[in-house]
Amino acid sequence: MRMFVSGRRTKRWKVFQLFATCFILSFMVFWGPINNHIVNHMKSYSYRFLVNSYDFVNDSLSLKHSSEQPHFPYLINHKEKCHAQDVLLLLFIKTAPANYNRRSAIRKTWGNENYVQSQLNANIKILFALGTPLPPRGELQKKLIWEDQMYKDIIQQDFVDSFYNLTLKLLLQFSWTNTFCPHAKFLMTADDDIFIHMPNLIEYLQRLEQIGVREFWIGHVHHGSPPVRDKSSKYYVSYEMYQWPAYPDYTAGAAYIISSDVAAKVYEASQMLNSSLYIDDVFMGLCANKIGIVPQDHMFFSGEGKVPYHPCIYEKMMTSHGHIKDLQDLWMEATDPKVKNVSEGFFGRIYCRLIKIVLFCRLFFRSPYPCRAAFA
Ligand SMILES: *[C@@H]1O[C@H](CO)[C@@H](O)[C@H](O)[C@H]1NC(C)=O
Ligand SMILES: *[C@@H]1O[C@H](CO)[C@@H](O)[C@H](O)[C@H]1NC(C)=O
Ligand SMILES: *[C@@H]1O[C@H](CO)[C@@H](O)[C@H](O)[C@H]1NC(C)=O
Ligand SMILES: *[C@@H]1O[C@H](CO)[C@@H](O)[C@H](O)[C@H]1NC(C)=O
Repeated sequence: MRMFVSGRRTKRWKVFQLFATCFILSFMVFWGPINNHIVNHMKSYSYRFLVNSYDFVNDSLSLKHSSEQPHFPYLINHKEKCHAQDVLLLLFIKTAPANYNRRSAIRKTWGNENYVQSQLNANIKILFALGTPLPPRGELQKKLIWEDQMYKDIIQQDFVDSFYNLTLKLLLQFSWTNTFCPHAKFLMTADDDIFIHMPNLIEYLQRLEQIGVREFWIGHVHHGSPPVRDKSSKYYVSYEMYQWPAYPDYTAGAAYIISSDVAAKVYEASQMLNSSLYIDDVFMGLCANKIGIVPQDHMFFSGEGKVPYHPCIYEKMMTSHGHIKDLQDLWMEATDPKVKNVSEGFFGRIYCRLIKIVLFCRLFFRSPYPCRAAFA
């Protein structure tokens, strides 16, 4: 073969090689920082299988004694909230001392235990999980105590309520459940700016309860997310805190649900893991990884995304994130008994299918519900 290759062709080949090398080098030099994000995701994606399958993460983050885990006394508590009752769902809402308006809107809409009892025929318990205001606590703490005397739905522990203490708030929820409400069939944790379609959720949980579901953990799943290594980010995590290129699979902290057997096991695991990793949903993922439980994705849990308003969506909707001022309007709209009529009949079904395709399957737009949700 070789003797047929002319000198001219070899030269051309060399020029091409040189050109290609320069191109790749310039790509690495100039595009490297820009593409850091993409490279990180690719690295983490190839790593994902390892992180989910082996227990090196568990080993590196385990504490020697559970006494190393911080414990904080309760300042406001309701020990008897679940006492001697069948409880379908215990729902913790993560909130901050100053967010009175958000709590108030939730109490008037999807977070109303009496509504759920009378209209949906289910016994659920809703509690707000809080730390303390920054010292000096003064007025705000007094208001909280007053608020709790009105509604009796606040659980507060003696740690400063801040973004970097979110994992402490998660520990609060698991240890409270373990001590005071271990018999609740399901445990849910949610943000205080979330919308939950309570009728759909309760119907779903009642069906699951009937089949006696176990090892259950559902929400909007993040697969193989890479830790953020950019120091200016709110979510920055040092190598010292977490050394691997990917987190184990976990559900977005905006809203997820576990069954009581998982709650008990996760509580045990949480007492034995270094809680300095302050991103609470990632910490939950680490606890679950330690006991070998994997999350399932539910397409109508929106994660951090805000779902567009449309009557065709409410039939299957579970959660949507980022609702503060509009919570009441959305609640009225989504639970209006007439809203289901839109998707009824032959033409109604076709109309809603088309609308959902338009809303969920757009290119270059990350819809909070996946495209396949349009066909569910
Ligand atoms: C977390 O809470 C502890 C206990 O109150 C406090 O000492 C610490 O400063 C808080 N951390 C942050 C980052 O707010
Ligand atoms: C937890 O991890 C941090 C590093 O992120 C380390 O500084 C700390 O000593 C660890 N805590 C325990 C109790 O091992
Ligand atoms: C996690 O580590 C602990 C102690 O290091 C060990 O007892 C436990 O079995 C491990 N869990 C898994 C799922 O490997
Ligand atoms: C909506 O449907 C229900 C029964 O499915 C019916 O009773 C009601 O009249 C309908 N409302 C409208 C406005 O069509």
